[in-house]
Amino acid sequence: MAIEEITGRIAKDLESLKQFTATPGDGCTRLPFTPEARGAVNYLKKIMEEAGLEVREDAAGNVIGVMRGTDPDAPCIMMGSHFDSVVNGGDFDGIAGAVCAIEVARQLKEQGVTPKRDFVAVGFCDEEGMRFGTGYFGSGAMLGNRDVEYCKNFADTNGVSIYDAMKEYGLDPEKIEDAKWDVEKIGRFLELHIEQGPVLDAENIELGLVDCIVGIQRYMVTVHGRADHAGTTPMDMRMDAVDAATKVISKIPDWAREKADGTVATTGFIRTTPGGMNIVAEKVEFTVDIRSKNNDNINDIANRIRAALDREVKEMGGSYEIDTKLVITPVWLSEEMLGIMEESCKARGYSYKKLPSGAGHDALEIGQVIPTVMLFVPSKEGRSHCPVEFTKYSDFAKASVVMTELAKDLLTR
Ligand code: GLV
Ligand code: MN
Ligand code: MN
Repeated sequence: MAIEEITGRIAKDLESLKQFTATPGDGCTRLPFTPEARGAVNYLKKIMEEAGLEVREDAAGNVIGVMRGTDPDAPCIMMGSHFDSVVNGGDFDGIAGAVCAIEVARQLKEQGVTPKRDFVAVGFCDEEGMRFGTGYFGSGAMLGNRDVEYCKNFADTNGVSIYDAMKEYGLDPEKIEDAKWDVEKIGRFLELHIEQGPVLDAENIELGLVDCIVGIQRYMVTVHGRADHAGTTPMDMRMDAVDAATKVISKIPDWAREKADGTVATTGFIRTTPGGMNIVAEKVEFTVDIRSKNNDNINDIANRIRAALDREVKEMGGSYEIDTKLVITPVWLSEEMLGIMEESCKARGYSYKKLPSGAGHDALEIGQVIPTVMLFVPSKEGRSHCPVEFTKYSDFAKASVVMTELAKDLLTR
């Protein structure tokens, strides 16, 4: 199959999938368990069927397409990425990897490969954690890390739990554990994704071989003070939740900078209650997302946040609580599979570079227990999680060819 034809197929799928957004004209907003997610899942199911795969949707909302191998007992080769997005995100984050997993299945068929083991293409549900503040819902469920309690525990900022959102979407959260795989049955995991950072584009490199994915911790912090009149309450007689919270928030970026090793920490959400210009806030909620290749750095920043909250909230006279949304350690990817992809890049004359991933991925969750590898394509000017996110379709095509060669190697041994 000529690379131009592969490019055309990928372009057609990604262009079609652009319609499934809640914010047309302002980027992709495809939150989990919404009509937009349903639209994307139905499209993925259709193209999986057209590619001759056995298609099903599991209890967590993942869409799965299987190309059967000759040995039903052999652990499968799984490849995929997520179909959800952030709010006003781009048209490639996640969904391009799901489409390219199906594209790899097409190429395997066209090349007449007889797989000894199953090739499983997956579109994962709720990788971003955007809606519920969590992350890796579908991939975590496949590994048995999500249960009914988890679905009841986490809610979106409107108070809708994962449990209720799943029911509304047509899934039975009581059956979430049906999504669990026998981990022994997944031999390897492969994920193709946009880089979401500037390195490949700036250096004009075609493909990124990912050797490490950072660990991540995510928290929702709630600081409680007392609502009072903004004009009449003297500064030393108020319990201002904003005063205490912002004293902590303002230090978090510096604690990450101090590590000077790529560690990052972000407060991306802040909400005050009642939120009036002339009312001392009685409550502040804010998120913290900390990432590093070094898990000790993440723990250290989380501990400093707790100590600062103890100090500032005591000073203010209120109280606080921390809701842990995600704790996941860094993962190093399979050297064996990186080596196979490197050979394939050399043979095809594609320029490549090894690099770490600062973004989280389903590969981070799955790579905790299963040999995993990732392949990046360049993101124009490194922009991602915003509407201008852009990657050339021809870059996805090259990456899909390298992934097909890797899959072929793994499927035929
Ligand atoms: C997902 O894109 C993340 O890294 O938060
Ligand atoms: Mn992603
Ligand atoms: Mn993302």
